[in-house]
Amino acid sequence: MRLFSPQQLAQNAFCPQDYEQLAESYLEKGLFAYLSGGSGQEHSLADNRKAFHEIQLNSRLLNDVSKGSSELTLFNQTLAAPILLAPVAYQSLVDPQGEIATAQAAKTSGIGSVVSTLSSQSLEKVAQAAPPCKLFQLYLQNDDAANQALINRAVEAGYQAIMITLDTSVQSVSLKARRLGFVLHQQVEAVNLRDYDHNQNPTGKTLFQGLMAQAPNWQSLGNWIKQSPIPVWVKGVMHPDDAIQLKQMGVTGIVVSNHGGRALDNSPSPLRVLPAIRKAVGKDFTILMDSGIRDGYDVFKALAMGANAVMLGRLQIYALAVGGAVGVAHMLKLLIEELHLCMALTGCKNLTDIRADKLFIQPTQI
Ligand code: FNR
Repeated sequence: MRLFSPQQLAQNAFCPQDYEQLAESYLEKGLFAYLSGGSGQEHSLADNRKAFHEIQLNSRLLNDVSKGSSELTLFNQTLAAPILLAPVAYQSLVDPQGEIATAQAAKTSGIGSVVSTLSSQSLEKVAQAAPPCKLFQLYLQNDDAANQALINRAVEAGYQAIMITLDTSVQSVSLKARRLGFVLHQQVEAVNLRDYDHNQNPTGKTLFQGLMAQAPNWQSLGNWIKQSPIPVWVKGVMHPDDAIQLKQMGVTGIVVSNHGGRALDNSPSPLRVLPAIRKAVGKDFTILMDSGIRDGYDVFKALAMGANAVMLGRLQIYALAVGGAVGVAHMLKLLIEELHLCMALTGCKNLTDIRADKLFIQPTQI
């Protein structure tokens, strides 16, 4: 049963992860498999959680954390917590308002949000509902005019930056979902791409002759970075060398991510590669991290390992499925409360106090 009222949500969800169980009991099996699943044999999906479980925290005594705060300034905006809602495609699969509802929840909660190219609501409508800290996630199409038009629309709509996702030139729907007969494109439309040909799988060609022959490369990325009137971020970075190259090319920040275990299976959890990437780009370069974050303790761990902020993928879509915008706002409230508790018990008054020395296992041992 779908839960609607704030009272019903408060009586059934006591931590952010409760929304996963509630979504599983409410959603049709194939759809839940599509949302929750990962690519291949789901080794990366599993490692995304395992890496967080392996880290423990140092409890510290008697630090003065009165007047503590989890605020972060990003794009000259003050966020209540170092959290953004990650781009998640086709949100009308679980809620009629889709991306508009999640954007509203981000705004109410004082955090940031990123809307996907594959949004089921137009990027303009989502922008109107979204918080001041809003980004447009771009999947580069193999049509320059289409890319330019999408960037122009995002600028016009007031997005603060473009976040180009580069880890999924080849997309795979989870095997579990396919075995259950789930077919994505019979159920939703990517409305932002209505006017463009975005056929992923040209027929009669191998992967290398077809899709990958048209995929973006370093040179084309460089052109988009130079041409974009607003800052460019890159999502899906998993190697220090790529991070260094992107920094040199002028991106404003990167997202260390394995797409929530939906891109290259057998890639490690982003949490494991984060310290090396932080070391490579230096302390002043902005790094977001996602994949596997399910509670406030995970947010803390990601920051202690080197991220400036985190993004939430599945948590937002589960909460949206269960309770619409109110569900997402409630999930975020629970998550931020957990982060505050974790900060207080580790003796961290502000985000700058969240450093590797708060971890029982130092990053180099992982
Ligand atoms: C995604 N993700 C994603 N990323 C992106 O850049 N553009 C997109 O359209 C989507 N769509 C999408 C759909 C669904 C159903 C999921 C679960 C994920 C990836 C997303 O932004 C993020 O990287 C991961 O979801 C983070 O991992 P967690 O928080 O889900 O574990």
